[in-house]
Amino acid sequence: MSTPRILLNLFHPNIDKSRGNKILSECVRDLVNVTFRDVYREYPDFKIDVKHEQQLLLDHDLIVFQHPFYWYSCPSLLKEWEDRVLEQGFAYPPGVGDKLNGKHWLTVLTTGGPDVAYRSGGFNHYTISELLRPFQQTANLCGMKWLSPVVINSVLPSGITGFKNLSDDDIKKCAEEYKEFLKQYTMG
Ligand SMILES: Cc1cc2nc3c(=O)[nH]c(=O)nc-3n(C[C@H](O)[C@H](O)[C@H](O)COP(=O)(O)O)c2cc1C
Repeated sequence: MSTPRILLNLFHPNIDKSRGNKILSECVRDLVNVTFRDVYREYPDFKIDVKHEQQLLLDHDLIVFQHPFYWYSCPSLLKEWEDRVLEQGFAYPPGVGDKLNGKHWLTVLTTGGPDVAYRSGGFNHYTISELLRPFQQTANLCGMKWLSPVVINSVLPSGITGFKNLSDDDIKKCAEEYKEFLKQYTMG
């Protein structure tokens, strides 16, 4: 059996100004069997090469969607990517629509809000699992297996006070766990 391959699609509109996603990306981007892509850098004009993206999906087993939580969802290029790349006849029927069957979907997310805010009765009312349902159901419709998301809360720009804010070292620890998970995945 061949080694499982990972496609890591990072969606961050300004990775140079990022703290969380930058630390996470730097920790995992050079792993063997991981194809790392900064999708905003590839498509600054949002003109997605659909066939190229679909071929990348076909060539990998685990698709990682790594991004900050924006308005309880994702940065807009990821939505554009879903709308364009997950075409009928490729990702879902009618037509063949089975090209992604059996692949794994992993969402890796940073949020500004703390974990306690994401619960019934909390500041944001809903859990992250509830808020991620549109992604989970997208994976379902494509016949993909939804893996338990990696969620790193309380990631704000450095220097913000008055709110819980993970230090760079805290984020690095999370990045090491993320790296370990990806390494284990490639071991089958
Ligand atoms: C446009 C925008 C929308 C945001 N929406 C949310 C949100 O809905 N929930 C939340 O917890 N944080 C929200 N944040 C905070 C970001 O999730 C947080 O700054 C980011 O995850 C930190 O990662 P980074 O250092 O890689 O940018 C938002 C930030 C921006 C700029």
